[in-house]
Amino acid sequence: MARRVAIGNNKGGAKKSTTAVRLAEALAKLGKRVGVCEVDPQGNASRRLGWKDDPNNPPLTTSEAIEANAEGVAAQVWQPIGWTVPYADNIVVMPARYTLEDRVSEAGQRGAYRRLAKALKGADDHLDYVLFDCPPSLGHLTQMALAAAHHALGTTEPEYDSLEAAVRYRDFVSESGEDLANPDLDFIGLVVSGYDQRVGAHIGQLDNSRKLFGDQVWGVVPQRSLITNADEYAQPLSEITGSHEVRAVYELLAQRFIKEVPAA
Ligand SMILES: Nc1ncnc2c1ncn2[C@@H]1O[C@H](COP(=O)(O)OP(=O)(O)O)[C@@H](O)[C@H]1O
Ligand SMILES: [Mg+2]
Repeated sequence: MARRVAIGNNKGGAKKSTTAVRLAEALAKLGKRVGVCEVDPQGNASRRLGWKDDPNNPPLTTSEAIEANAEGVAAQVWQPIGWTVPYADNIVVMPARYTLEDRVSEAGQRGAYRRLAKALKGADDHLDYVLFDCPPSLGHLTQMALAAAHHALGTTEPEYDSLEAAVRYRDFVSESGEDLANPDLDFIGLVVSGYDQRVGAHIGQLDNSRKLFGDQVWGVVPQRSLITNADEYAQPLSEITGSHEVRAVYELLAQRFIKEVPAA
């Protein structure tokens, strides 16, 4: 079984999807095999990885894997990503489109919160890590990811509302393990992204994130337009001119990830 990490924050724009995609990229460059499992009906991580939907012949997605309610079905859903760099072969995606929202109405059905874990059973043995890109809510979709995960990783912008939402995610994770039949689930770290040292609020909230999360602050990604552009155009960072500094930041985060998430 891969080691599974749920990337979350109880707010949109907190850099969850960018963290999932760029961590996957940095881990893949280090030779790790990574599955990005999209648990957000927005599908941002899938698109940024270059995955393309086909309305005429729609590929299977996380939604169908959950809906099937059967052990191991996720094995049929992993797909190659769309990047053409050599290390892209180390990344697969379980994509999502807006239809994933339909799974929310099934939350009251028996065992619904375990359906993603069930789908993944035996379906990620070929991977080192699975990263769940969670939606901004703490509702059913995030709970399915947390029921399937070994660990939870928070993200945040260095701003009040985002940091408060990271604390909510951390506390929710800490309190929910037993309820999700996953008592060993733990919160392992926080990635602060979009830091601009010219903004007073950012200086104050980076300081606060260290006060609130201590050693669990894994690193700080500076605010850089090249990251927005790489996400916008669904490109790997290694294809972006001048991305050396940013790649180094994500490589350090990937090293910390490997240290904090021990192999099975
Ligand atoms: N370090 C950064 N510098 C500048 N823009 C960033 C950075 N990290 C992420 N972004 C951009 O910020 C926006 C929000 O990030 P996203 O990952 O989509 O947030 P979430 O998934 O939490 O809603 C996106 O447009 C993304 O490209
Ligand atoms: Mg997102």
